[in-house]
Amino acid sequence: MPTTTVTDELIAQLRALEAQGAEAVGAAGGAEPLEALRTEYLGRKGRLTGILRRLGELSAEERPVVGAEANRVKEALSALLDERAASFAAAADAGPGIDLSLPGRGRWKGGVHPVTLVIDEICEIFRDLGFNRIAGPELETQEYNFSKLNFPPNHPATDMHDTFYVTDEVLLRTHTSPMQARVMEQFAPPVRVVVPGTVYRRDPFDASHAPAFEQIEGLAVDEGITFADFKATISTFVRRFFGADAKTRFRPSFFPFTEPSAEVDVSCQLCGGSGCSACKGTGWMEIMGAGMVHPNVFAAAGYDPERYTGYAFGMGPGRIAMQRYGVPDIRLLYESDVRFLGQFT
Ligand code: PHE
Repeated sequence: MPTTTVTDELIAQLRALEAQGAEAVGAAGGAEPLEALRTEYLGRKGRLTGILRRLGELSAEERPVVGAEANRVKEALSALLDERAASFAAAADAGPGIDLSLPGRGRWKGGVHPVTLVIDEICEIFRDLGFNRIAGPELETQEYNFSKLNFPPNHPATDMHDTFYVTDEVLLRTHTSPMQARVMEQFAPPVRVVVPGTVYRRDPFDASHAPAFEQIEGLAVDEGITFADFKATISTFVRRFFGADAKTRFRPSFFPFTEPSAEVDVSCQLCGGSGCSACKGTGWMEIMGAGMVHPNVFAAAGYDPERYTGYAFGMGPGRIAMQRYGVPDIRLLYESDVRFLGQFT
């Protein structure tokens, strides 16, 4: 075993003193405690002097070695003390109440919008189920938004009253369903896609309506797809997104582009199904319109309606985000108030 000489011991003590001193200087809260540290470490009766008292035990050759290390430590600590003292002095000059030695405040760098968080999560679940995520145009034609989706001419939804028209033919899409036609025209079956995006309606901007909001279209087409496939896929999605306890309800409905059509409800996430103001006492909240793709839609897109079947759905991620995060007013989602948005990151 190597023997520890007094020289080694003293040098180790000096280095420990240096480390402790540096830490204490960094933690000092003001000019006064700092000067107390100077006395404690470097003063005439201070800790450095205490260590050097044992210099007498050393030989004439060893003494300068320890002495040089002691000088180095003394200078290093002095420099740290001076530097910190200067920063306290600068803070005092800057005026009362300003402590320049405080660490800076963290700045919020922005974050992902709650509706985007929900869209990404939903699309990831559908990705696991074999659906590709794609996007489509917000500026659409009357033909894709309505005609190819089996809306009869002069259907009330095509009215100026509900739709933002740019010209007689061009409009802001009122739903993401035109992407059903675009996908089928572009890709041969089988197809499985989800299409998130913004849609526009001439609705008042109030607690439950916004003139622009998000939808996620879903489309699955192949030979032999049935309504049972649709129910199983959606029930799987609901359990994954909302949790194993969430219940799903399918209600008959009507859309020109699906037959049969359904609306899908999930047990209210806020009251657990017992009824509250968010679900208007029903215990359920609607999350999507859906149904089996209408043969006329297949025909208009060039798919053989005799050979292929499929389902489509349109979800409202804004409403789902409001349920998930307990947001009482849809306007909060679209006013870009960072005091609201900052809560989600
Ligand atoms: N596009 C319909 C809506 O906006 C929802 C829907 C999509 C219904 C797909 C059926 C199939 O209300």
